[in-house]
Amino acid sequence: MDEKLIKVKELLKKYNQEHLLTFFDDLNPENKELLLNQVLDIDFELMLKLYENTKKTVEIDTDSIEPIPYLDKSKLSQDELDLYYEKGLEAIKSGKLAVVTMAGGQGTRLGHNGPKGTYDLGLPSHKSIFEILCDTLILAKNTYGVTIPWYLMTSNENNLATINFFEEHNYFGYPKEAVHFFKQGELPMIGTDGKILLNENGLVKLAANGHGGIFESMFKNNVLKDMKTNGIEWVFIGGVDNVLVKMVDPILMGLCINNNTLAGGKSVVKVGPKEKVGVFCKRNQKPSVVEYTEITEEMANLTDENGELLFGESHILCNLFNIRALEAISNNSLPYHSAFKKATYMNDKKEQVSSDVPNAYKFEAFIFDAFSTLDNMSILRVNRVDEFAPVKNATGVDSPETARELYTNYYKNNF
Ligand code: UTP
Repeated sequence: MDEKLIKVKELLKKYNQEHLLTFFDDLNPENKELLLNQVLDIDFELMLKLYENTKKTVEIDTDSIEPIPYLDKSKLSQDELDLYYEKGLEAIKSGKLAVVTMAGGQGTRLGHNGPKGTYDLGLPSHKSIFEILCDTLILAKNTYGVTIPWYLMTSNENNLATINFFEEHNYFGYPKEAVHFFKQGELPMIGTDGKILLNENGLVKLAANGHGGIFESMFKNNVLKDMKTNGIEWVFIGGVDNVLVKMVDPILMGLCINNNTLAGGKSVVKVGPKEKVGVFCKRNQKPSVVEYTEITEEMANLTDENGELLFGESHILCNLFNIRALEAISNNSLPYHSAFKKATYMNDKKEQVSSDVPNAYKFEAFIFDAFSTLDNMSILRVNRVDEFAPVKNATGVDSPETARELYTNYYKNNF
């Protein structure tokens, strides 16, 4: 321990973060060890760079951004639909598909006490979001005769609560051995002065590193290896909070196979130029997403000859990747974006500080930054009411109330 402590002290001195040991002597032996290991795990050069970046305004080179070609599912001929369906179906039936649900988010806007997937959507059945998602896998199992492996990415914060929920609900009737959990990575949060924060226990305050952390964590947790060993070739990756997500879709898969693209994504039509969503685009000729915070008003209003928005394909976190694409992506590190958030931390007087306004930086990678690794992606525009019912806010737009209505209407009209 002494040697470790000396090493930690040197490191902290070098990076001007010595405050992290202020309460070291008050910690129990277990937490002492934990804190030292936390510090040794920190990439201080990266943290320094990320802090410097918080002071820069992000410049967008609009000239590098152009609309991306897409297929509108509603305009496909029956022959095209059959072709994609058959190709996708063949791959699904031969056990080549796995699905991943990203459930590591904090769900701060919803404000539910627990992992977002455990939220009761308020249906007469009182099904949780996890059960709603699982229903689609059970349906796929009954329809296609295959048990599709289901991986859930959790965070350090919600991993145990997530696993316990699955246990308590007997995996919602899905074979337990087909359900796998893995944890995403974390990064320290920093204050406005660039100092890494301590949490209320005197340990480094860590936060999940964004949904883009999925590639690194799939690699580090041997998820990719596991999938390959089991003959998986295609991986659907979606968010936990869309209760109409189609995790098993032969059409999207068949489209990728037919077009020879290593990835595909679903879009829904952006409601209007001002809707706060990221949209698919090409950036430097590679697939990408331009965020609503990035897009200029002029670009957001551009329309084609039919009056449709040129940048109108909303990215809804429904993407399919070939395992080769995932391997290539996990070899590169994604950029981190900073978010100014409300955080509770311990100050150097050992007082717990919380705030009604943002007071600290959190760093997140975004899944769509990985798209630029690919030369191309098949984008499939789908009908919003069939595939997109997000649960983001406690009330109003994209809330349990709107998602419940969309979900109920979809099942009333389609089954
Ligand atoms: P959001 O960006 O909507 O974030 O995540 P959130 O954490 O769920 O909600 P807020 O912003 O705090 O209210 C979109 C999807 O990405 C996952 C979420 O679980 C959700 O499925 N996600 C997000 C992660 O898995 N890890 C992260 O670090 C962030």
